[in-house]
Amino acid sequence: MNEEQRKEQTQARVGTSSADKKSDQTKDYSQYFQTTFTPPDLKQAKKRGKENVAVHYDFDIPEDMQGIGNGKKFLIRTYGCQMNEHDSENMAGILLQMGFESTAFSEEADVILLNTCAIRENAENKVFGEIGHLKPLKLEKPGLIVGVCGCMSQEESVVNRILQKHQHVDMIFGTHNIHRLPELLKNAIFNKEMVIEVWSKEGDIIENMPRARKGQIQGWVNIMYGCDKFCTYCIVPYTRGKERSRLPEDIIEEVRHLARNGYKEITLLGQNVNAYGKDLVDSDYGLGDLMDEIRKIDIPRVRFTTSHPRDFDDHLIEVLAKGGNLVEHIHLPVQSGNSEVLKLMARKYTREQYIELAQKIKKAMPHASFTTDIIVGFPNETEEQFEDTLSLMKEMEYDSAYTYIYSAREGTPAAKMEDNVPMDVKKDRLQRLNAIVNDLSAKKNQAYEGKVVEVLVEGESKKNPDVLMGRTRTNKLVNFKAPTSTIGTLLQVRVTEAKTWSLNGEVVETVGVNS
Ligand code: 5AD
Ligand code: SF4
Repeated sequence: MNEEQRKEQTQARVGTSSADKKSDQTKDYSQYFQTTFTPPDLKQAKKRGKENVAVHYDFDIPEDMQGIGNGKKFLIRTYGCQMNEHDSENMAGILLQMGFESTAFSEEADVILLNTCAIRENAENKVFGEIGHLKPLKLEKPGLIVGVCGCMSQEESVVNRILQKHQHVDMIFGTHNIHRLPELLKNAIFNKEMVIEVWSKEGDIIENMPRARKGQIQGWVNIMYGCDKFCTYCIVPYTRGKERSRLPEDIIEEVRHLARNGYKEITLLGQNVNAYGKDLVDSDYGLGDLMDEIRKIDIPRVRFTTSHPRDFDDHLIEVLAKGGNLVEHIHLPVQSGNSEVLKLMARKYTREQYIELAQKIKKAMPHASFTTDIIVGFPNETEEQFEDTLSLMKEMEYDSAYTYIYSAREGTPAAKMEDNVPMDVKKDRLQRLNAIVNDLSAKKNQAYEGKVVEVLVEGESKKNPDVLMGRTRTNKLVNFKAPTSTIGTLLQVRVTEAKTWSLNGEVVETVGVNS
């Protein structure tokens, strides 16, 4: 996209209003107790309007809310994916600007926010467990504000359950309402009624929210929001809204800013990251174009996640093959190795098409590591169909895989199918799949023995503080001994021992390797 087109794009977006995007307040919650609210509605969330998305650059903490947090502390517990982690960085940034300080201890906190994940039932159970645990603390300290946000708050069933059973929760707000946190918090503190604000239709793009990044080595950069794929098992298109891309210049400026501030690695984030640009008006600018520009920025490593095979185009492959700061790791979720199951999942590719794509990528990036996501026990999955997943694992020789038992999510098309694979069969399939994943991972790691790899030193190993840990460009975890002063630098490390999930190594060079 040239400068002229970009300006037009910005104008096309900035000129659009979002006032009509909030869901209608259709349900009567007054039976529970007094609330100030906009409730969620999954049916609304499913609708994909054609209206443009406006980009706002004027976020500010309203004057009467500045200083509200002086002398008070906050704690955010984050569940789920990197997108949630990144959203928590925004919320922390807002709270810090309101005067709050952060704490790691719930006993010390005046505001506790649970940034939740709805992807599987067990993720939700964990959150409900934590909400329950907070009740005694709230009784002891009535001034404490307990907030629930993130993907679960976009679900009507969750909001209803909180209203009925967890009245110690003070506020619930959705994934599209993060920028409204100052106002919502003020209402929760001063009005003493439960505050619920969940817009089911996605909001605009808010560019300049404050952000308290967790580290100074690796940074997340959101490039798009939402997902339009509607895989039949997945709740994300409902909880995160339609696909909305940030403007290239805003992303590039953010990456440059991180580079200037000494960050060594960025991860471009999106639920369906390679659909980037599809919603940009009058433009065919895509992820390949964006990465080609980011490639020229002086930051040592650039990753991206998560991609959908359908949107992985040739231009992107061509750009990734140029290497440089674009690292050799491809996470390409396949979900199943059987074409009939893939059809039921609405993944819109067959086993053969996936393999063809993966081979094309491997040819262009021969040293890339490959990882994937798999769901076992999808409705109607037969033993033979599951075995196709096992054979695909072996054929693809993945470096690693995230493997999940299918979990029915209310409101999704798959939830209407009979969840007819018994739990013991699902567990057995998961175990057999994981055995192969472990074998492949160990085998792939063995190939590293004796090699010298570039490692970005992230910090002390969680298991052994005498040892540092870092990752290769291919995202392999490496443990090694080195002074803590090397944290945040790039080191050359010789791999001395391969384990199933990590590598041990020794530093071969410590001087002059920092970018
Ligand atoms: N049940 C199990 N796993 C799921 N995933 C998404 N939805 C479900 C579900 N309903 C998995 C997919 C996706 C990953 C982030 O979570 O594998 O790629
Ligand atoms: Fe969910 Fe990913 Fe499919 Fe989107 S592409 S519906 S986020 S699994």
